[in-house]
Amino acid sequence: MSTDWAALAAELMAARRTVLPFRLGDPGPDAAQLQTILAAAASAPDHRCLLPWRFITVPADRREALAEVFAQALLERDPMAAPHDVAKAREKGFRSPFLVLLVVDAEKGDAEIGLAERLVSAGCAAQNVLLMATAMGYGSALTAGQSVRSAVLHRFFGLRTSEQAVCFVSIGTALSHGTAHLRPTVADYVSVLGAEDTR
Ligand SMILES: Cc1cc2nc3c(=O)[nH]c(=O)nc-3n(C[C@H](O)[C@H](O)[C@H](O)COP(=O)(O)O)c2cc1C
Repeated sequence: MSTDWAALAAELMAARRTVLPFRLGDPGPDAAQLQTILAAAASAPDHRCLLPWRFITVPADRREALAEVFAQALLERDPMAAPHDVAKAREKGFRSPFLVLLVVDAEKGDAEIGLAERLVSAGCAAQNVLLMATAMGYGSALTAGQSVRSAVLHRFFGLRTSEQAVCFVSIGTALSHGTAHLRPTVADYVSVLGAEDTR
């Protein structure tokens, strides 16, 4: 019996839903599963094979330091932030059993490949990771709060000047679900060149 790849792919893609980090708990993926999940990123299209992105995992013993970075990032953009908000920012460092930062390099390799192409490649890598996590039954999310653009986070992750943090990827067991977003239809995002677009 041949496998219906299209049906499988459609089912998997439809099953992927954002499960925000505060809804993710133990167990997270084990070491072998993580290897498989992260290996999925390698199948992302990558113009001229520059590998313009990388992932930096955050081990358990670095969560407290990351929490402090989130707090500092908030204070960096709002020195008058209320203690309650600083505490909330700190708490984000402890969410989700598995947490990894996706980073893109704007300059690595061939200068003809611009940032847009590099980000598309990074996005494809992230989607592959999310789909593999979904296939294994885990909940997952991309999150990019304002902290990803902060100098303190850039320093903490040891990023090069040409690198920027894109978003975090969180993976774990879905403890609860938010309201599912209605997906757009093909007509919402596809038009025909030359045809009147009434959107
Ligand atoms: C790069 C990126 C960053 C994101 N950051 C956040 C975020 O900080 N907070 C959040 O609630 N959702 C974030 N999202 C998830 C989107 O909100 C989510 O994909 C969208 O609502 C559609 O829901 P779905 O993924 O369940 O289809 C992010 C998505 C992307 C692609």
